[in-house]
Amino acid sequence: MRVTLYLGLVALCVGLASCEDTPPAEPKGDLADISYNPKAYLIKKPAHFPEVPVPADNPMTYDGVQLGRRLFYDPILSADSTMSCASCHLPEFNFTDGKNVSVGIDGIAGKRSSMSLLNIAYVNTGLFWDGRTSTLEAQALLPIEDPIELHTTWPNVIEKFKAHPEYPALFRKAFGISDRSEITKVLAVKAIAQFERILISSGESVYDRYLAGETQLLQDEALDGKLMFFDEGFDLGLPDTECFHCHGTGTLTGGRFFNNGLDPFDQITDIGQQAVTGNPSDKGKFRAPTLRNIALSAPYMHDGRFATLEESMEHYLFRAHSAPNADPNMNLLINKRPIFNNYHKEALVAFLHTLTDTAFINNPDIQNPF
Ligand code: HEC
Ligand code: HEC
Repeated sequence: MRVTLYLGLVALCVGLASCEDTPPAEPKGDLADISYNPKAYLIKKPAHFPEVPVPADNPMTYDGVQLGRRLFYDPILSADSTMSCASCHLPEFNFTDGKNVSVGIDGIAGKRSSMSLLNIAYVNTGLFWDGRTSTLEAQALLPIEDPIELHTTWPNVIEKFKAHPEYPALFRKAFGISDRSEITKVLAVKAIAQFERILISSGESVYDRYLAGETQLLQDEALDGKLMFFDEGFDLGLPDTECFHCHGTGTLTGGRFFNNGLDPFDQITDIGQQAVTGNPSDKGKFRAPTLRNIALSAPYMHDGRFATLEESMEHYLFRAHSAPNADPNMNLLINKRPIFNNYHKEALVAFLHTLTDTAFINNPDIQNPF
């Protein structure tokens, strides 16, 4: 009896002592009661595409992608709540806007055409037509404050998030913050970048199915166009058109920068990559963009100067200008001009149409969630 009583007293003392040592409980953040269970997001990609690169400091989670998708489509990101990223990057136009050059919230036109975001996760040579930004996270900071785009400020946007009925909880679920005061632009652009990394081809275009073995799907003009594009038709009497050197294989995004001879060298007004590198030999160079879904993203080139694919092919086959910094493949095209004819043009256009990926643009995971 006595022993038990004694032990009981010791236990009580220990309990009291430990109570005295405990620091007063931290004030809990206003979001701390919302559950935070990050689940890894597995990016879907066609078997013949390389792994999708993801930076170590922004791992893909289901809630991160959902938040990013919402931010991408939400006009809350603009000064007057009229425009979102998606106003200039619409799924039905392969994430471009169908305009020659984009127009921001104040009705002011920029000098460049909106770019497709399809397979953007693979671009590692610099974003934008001139390559001036390196990561999707850094890129997404810019449109918010750009006077010819969303034209607001990050502090304004962050205040709108903090006061919003849903965003604080969504930031908590995506990034584990415990209080709405921890919402930052860094977290917002991480979420947007996570969403952009899921914008990957479905692998169900006619061309992909052809690559996967359904060879009957590419015939006649489209097959001739494919052979010309990849310089594979010479023995069949088809001229090489050198396209693949710059527009690459697999994802069909070369990603490097070239002057493709749109203007006479001394009449180039947008100097492109030269403005980024300061190197005069980069004058008029732009990144060769993806050709996937190209039939959906008219008009074409950095300034939207060509309304159709036919016009774009007329440029390569009949009209390109030589330049001191031209890639040798452009000089080859210029030298071969006398042998090109309208059938060659139509064949290339027919091939480009086989890159249309409606399964991608209709993918429910990438649509407007509102
Ligand atoms: C007013 C129209 C407009 C809005 C709004 C807009 N963009 Fe763009 N976006 C463009 C244009 C135009 C370009 C090409 C600009 C250039 O190269 O100088 C571009 C380029 C990009 C690129 C580079 C693509 C590549 O292949 O290199 C990304 C990524 C991008 N935008 C994402 C976004 C995100 C994210 C938002 C929202 C935060 C956004 N954009 C809002 C028009 C817009
Ligand atoms: C020397 C490299 C080079 C070669 C060869 C080349 N391209 Fe391009 N292509 C580019 C560059 C660079 C651009 C972007 C130019 C710009 O906007 O100023 C481009 C743009 C395009 C565009 C418009 C893309 C858009 O989103 O607006 C299409 C379509 C295209 N090329 C198809 C072809 C085809 C088909 C061939 C073969 C006949 C070809 N290219 C040959 C480098 C090249």
